Amino acid sequence: MFRRHRRLRKNSYIRDIVRETTLSPNDFIYPIFVVEGQNVKKEISSLPGNYHYSLDKLGEIIGEIKEAGVKGVILFGIPDEKDEIGSSAFDDNGIIQRAIRKIRELDKDVFIITDVCMCEYTSHGHCGIIHDKYVDNDETIKYIAKIALSHAKAGADMVAPSDMMDGRINEIRKTLDENGYENISIMAYSAKYCSAFYGPFREAADSAPKFGDRKSYQMDPANFREAMLEIEDDINEGADIIMVKPALSYLDVIKMAREKNDVPIAAYSVSGEYAMIKAGAKLGYINERAIALESLLSIKRAGADIIITYYALEASKWIKE
Ligand code: PBG
Repeated sequence: MFRRHRRLRKNSYIRDIVRETTLSPNDFIYPIFVVEGQNVKKEISSLPGNYHYSLDKLGEIIGEIKEAGVKGVILFGIPDEKDEIGSSAFDDNGIIQRAIRKIRELDKDVFIITDVCMCEYTSHGHCGIIHDKYVDNDETIKYIAKIALSHAKAGADMVAPSDMMDGRINEIRKTLDENGYENISIMAYSAKYCSAFYGPFREAADSAPKFGDRKSYQMDPANFREAMLEIEDDINEGADIIMVKPALSYLDVIKMAREKNDVPIAAYSVSGEYAMIKAGAKLGYINERAIALESLLSIKRAGADIIITYYALEASKWIKE
């Protein structure tokens, strides 16, 4: 048979009714960077259109999120004080813990997710406790669980560990449950690659490692099967949602994760993905809106249910226009 595929592309009505994938503000989670100080709303140079907010300025962004129709945020904190063990990450009065309480006070409905990691809080910039220049896994996961618990106590709805230590999901789940937080969910950064696409974020969060790199804990970009093992273990340890990160260069991983598992899948379209589109658009080489939406759509088509993206607010507006 000679199939006339073009019949279903003839006009916008027919294209609309046969469309397989759509985007909605419900798909997006918006990252917010919180800093100490007062009256700070400072554009992040590596992530144009995104800002550092002090607590007193959070109302502005929470208002914009609501207006855009986005319901979920993921918080990143930049503390004033860093030390070897990242103490301010699990301080009940740390920057994130206060930001959670502040956001809750501003808007009781916003879904608050927290990034659980140590790299923004440690003086060495690594995601754990260092012994002999090596991040000690089993000691680190105790701290990771402590950080997650402090976020839950402050009122977070969901915790998202991004450290890539082994066994952390089990440790966090156990700690949350023992303390009466059995309803706090875990979104695990399960297949998190050691990626150059995080460059702009590390500038934004002041979290670049002071020596070495993250290759001994984040995944090798060359590996695919290993990602499936990471995901399987996180699900078995109790992750409610698993994540693939970055997104665009790892659509194969998202797709296979979707095929193999029934839990919801998140994809983090990271800082480098965003910055490349912004830069290309600024130079006039590409159509920003079209490329941003096409990128997000392809992440969804690959199998992601949830997309963490710096485009969350703009894309939500574009979709509605
Ligand atoms: C913390 C963390 C990072 C990102 C999210 N959580 C940085 C890193 O692993 O170095 C990257 C996000 C982005 O690039 O947008 N560990």
